[in-house]
Amino acid sequence: DGAIEGANAKRGLWSSRLAFILAATGSAVGLGNIWKFPYITGENGGGAFVIVYLACIAVVGIPIMMAEVMIGRRGGRSPVNSLRLITERDGLNPAWKLVGAVGVLAGFLILSFYSVIGGWAVSYVGTAASGQLTGQSAEAVGAIFSGLLSDPGTLLLWHTVFMGLVMAVVAKGVRAGLERAVSILMPALFVLLLVMVGYAMTTGAFGQAVSFLFQPDFSKLTTSGILVALGHAFFTLSLGMAVMMAYGSYLPKNVSIAKTSITVSVIDTGVALLAGLAIFPVVFANGLEPGAGPGLIFQTLPLAFGQMPMGSLFGSLFFILLIFAAWTSGISLLEPIVEWLEEQKGMNRTISTLGAGLVCWGLGIASILSLNLWSDVAPLSFIPMLEGKTIFDLLDFFTANILLPLGGLLVAVMAGWVMSKQAMKNELSLSDSSFKLWLTTVRFITPVAVSIVFIYNLI
Ligand code: PHE
Ligand code: NA
Repeated sequence: DGAIEGANAKRGLWSSRLAFILAATGSAVGLGNIWKFPYITGENGGGAFVIVYLACIAVVGIPIMMAEVMIGRRGGRSPVNSLRLITERDGLNPAWKLVGAVGVLAGFLILSFYSVIGGWAVSYVGTAASGQLTGQSAEAVGAIFSGLLSDPGTLLLWHTVFMGLVMAVVAKGVRAGLERAVSILMPALFVLLLVMVGYAMTTGAFGQAVSFLFQPDFSKLTTSGILVALGHAFFTLSLGMAVMMAYGSYLPKNVSIAKTSITVSVIDTGVALLAGLAIFPVVFANGLEPGAGPGLIFQTLPLAFGQMPMGSLFGSLFFILLIFAAWTSGISLLEPIVEWLEEQKGMNRTISTLGAGLVCWGLGIASILSLNLWSDVAPLSFIPMLEGKTIFDLLDFFTANILLPLGGLLVAVMAGWVMSKQAMKNELSLSDSSFKLWLTTVRFITPVAVSIVFIYNLI
């Protein structure tokens, strides 16, 4: 507790509950909300997918977030050390430390392609600011985007810039200042999304977009769509890779884990839904394809910026805020690897950041090439479920839909079946009935849901 108070004193004005919410929101809100949620919703037919996604957030996401924060606070250290401490102190099987290993691997793989998409956002600041988008047709806006994708050199440049931003912060360990910026820039992003939704209301297709997003047509829902919705619940809340465990270790004992977890999840979900409401009206008003894939927001939002008053200003501001949101998420993806190298391999922070960052950057090149020179390379096409997936698609699929749910499953089983009930009850300080509800969820509902979705997709 002394350490926590010391850290709080350094954090100045910020109450620790707020500090946790800022750090956790910084990690959660990112490209997953604004880039990924709209495009996977479009690919999976809209409403029914959104309902499954919301159900996964409520029934799987929030309870797992609580479990991660709880384990982190109970351990009071970095995830690897927290898990070691808890397994030793509570006499658990040391294999539970695997949760930390999943985190290191997942963070590494996700960041490699996350940074490439972050690079798209960097590139679009200039595109919007230069006024190139003003008054453009959907075709012209689409051509700007395909021009970017077809140019590996430019993609590499912006990927390098984004990765450099992430590495600079992780190497210096200057998280506190950045998290303070979250309290200004996240609300700014929220307001800008509201402006975009306001514009979307004038397109004449707002009603169509609302029914696309919220009127479920369950005939459009596939088993693979359910897997994607479940995987995205983990991805968007930064779960399954011990990020929330790391942040939980800074949470003072008197703060409610349930309330803070719900707050972070509600903010994250709100941003995703707003992004959907900003994008789909533009899609329908311009006769674009909702299932256009990963380029969706880059083919629709620029169109809106080109048509609305002060679009160049709003556009560049929007992409700057998107970079910021992606940046704080990127940091939380690199941090576990660097911490692991420091603790397990005894390397110093600068060297571990440089080493891990460079390898990650190198792996990102495979994702860049998947967008152009290797766009026909689908190495695992012999597996029906993975047919036609490029390296970029495979990295996304394997991390979000397999690795993170697997990490979450381990957390659920550890909390639900292995850890001491009394210790968890003290940590969570919930009423008897709420604790029972949470315990039942992590014991049965989460493991069963994840297993069923996995098994269905395998056969
Ligand atoms: N939650 C982040 C997003 O939505 C991505 C992320 C996943 C960050 C896992 C950290 C860990 O963009
Ligand atoms: Na998110």
